[in-house]
Amino acid sequence: MNPNQDKVCDLAIFGAQGDLALRKLFPSLFQLDKAELLDAETRVIGLARDNVDQPGFKENVTEHLKKYIPADELDNEVLQRFCSRLQYIKLDFATEEGYDQLVATRAKVKHRLICYFATPASVYGPICENLSKHQLINGETRVVLEKPIGYDLASSCEINDQVAKYFDECQIYRIDHYLGKETVQNLIALRFANNLFGSQWDLNHIDHIEITVAEKVGIEGRWGYFDKAGQLRDMVQNHLLQLLCLIAMDPPSDLSADSIRDEKVKVLKALQPITPELLTTHVVRGQYGAGTIDGKPVPGYLEEENAKSSSSTESFVSLKVMINNWRWANVPFYLRTGKRMPEKLSQIIIHFKQQPHYIFAPEQRSIASNKLIIRLQPDEGISLQVMTKDQGLDKGMRLRAGPLQLSFSDTFHTDRIPDAYERLLLELMKGNQYLFVRRDEVEYAWRWCDRIIQGWEDQNTRPQKYPAGSWGPVSSIAMITRDGRSWYEDSA
Ligand code: BG6
Repeated sequence: MNPNQDKVCDLAIFGAQGDLALRKLFPSLFQLDKAELLDAETRVIGLARDNVDQPGFKENVTEHLKKYIPADELDNEVLQRFCSRLQYIKLDFATEEGYDQLVATRAKVKHRLICYFATPASVYGPICENLSKHQLINGETRVVLEKPIGYDLASSCEINDQVAKYFDECQIYRIDHYLGKETVQNLIALRFANNLFGSQWDLNHIDHIEITVAEKVGIEGRWGYFDKAGQLRDMVQNHLLQLLCLIAMDPPSDLSADSIRDEKVKVLKALQPITPELLTTHVVRGQYGAGTIDGKPVPGYLEEENAKSSSSTESFVSLKVMINNWRWANVPFYLRTGKRMPEKLSQIIIHFKQQPHYIFAPEQRSIASNKLIIRLQPDEGISLQVMTKDQGLDKGMRLRAGPLQLSFSDTFHTDRIPDAYERLLLELMKGNQYLFVRRDEVEYAWRWCDRIIQGWEDQNTRPQKYPAGSWGPVSSIAMITRDGRSWYEDSA
């Protein structure tokens, strides 16, 4: 039997001429094709408003494949095969124009239609309505929703309601691309396949946890979108809270989508609300000013192209998050994410508690604790910092912190780690929802974030400045120092 047969589909990408489709979706589909993970009959149908003909569309996609895929991975034969799967339909998302053509394209095929909405969420409802009017939806159809799903809880509910009129929850795949990252997947294996960690994963053994998602880039021509969102909506509401859920959730009873998602929802429900009283001690928001990245001067947020000079949107946020349950009571989770940081780095650090009784030299006490470092990017891997005796006759019982290292690329000799979108597209075609976000997760996350945003609005304060190329405002360091702790690279 053909191993890809269960995945055969027509993948209709709405917004096929947009940045996400050209930068991520087509390159990922190409890689799946190259790895022979697409069925021979699977077609990729691009839909957008632009007036381009079939060759023009294929040329545009090919150009972007050449831009985003290293030359030595761009096999010519696969490129031809991939291009022969492509079709373009000019379609206006919100009116009925173009849908007939999609119907005609599907007339002779029986396989599943998957609609990928790489468009603003404001047109998700109208697209669904038009698909329905043209009888393009049946029980087999799947729909993929890109973030941001809304701007707050109310708008997110509205969008989810519009889609839910036409699709059941089991047909809806909400993307959070962090869930497709190799190391994020490994979090589940690490926690639940290793008793060493499983038995230590609670308030009795863990002192605190850090999650850092830092980017070097600034706003990169996305000012219009970003300024309405800000870092809390753009990164915390989704990616950071998803990471937090995977670290903090109780073991699911199996690996099914709903078992995992039920556990994540329990974490979201247990998050301590950030009340106005906690806002000053538990949250820091920042906005980058001019500074230096890789030795080159870069402008501040308010001087970026198309910027409004009065904007008080945050490009950085750090938070002290508490989870009110038996596993995590009094264990702080320090979250930090920002643009224009010194490096692109996403990592989770589990700081284990010190020994109950310490017998080594007192001045070394501060280094004597284990840390588990889970590196999402770059250089994906896991490292466990353990204490050993320093080598040498003259060192006595001097302690040294050294890593037990697992670099995925060195250990598994993998040349390339697949992009998150490759995995997500594959799971989507297979019909596995465990890497996609359920509606209640999105809504609990919004509920928690809305309160912070409301608090900021009520206080009517501006974000604190930090120079581009730094780790955020000094108050972010003060937030953790007040608790007698420090961010990892400050103490490393
Ligand atoms: C997106 C955000 O979801 O994630 C962007 O909208 C951000 O602002 C991006 O740059 C970061 O993703 P990654 O995979 O590069 O860490």
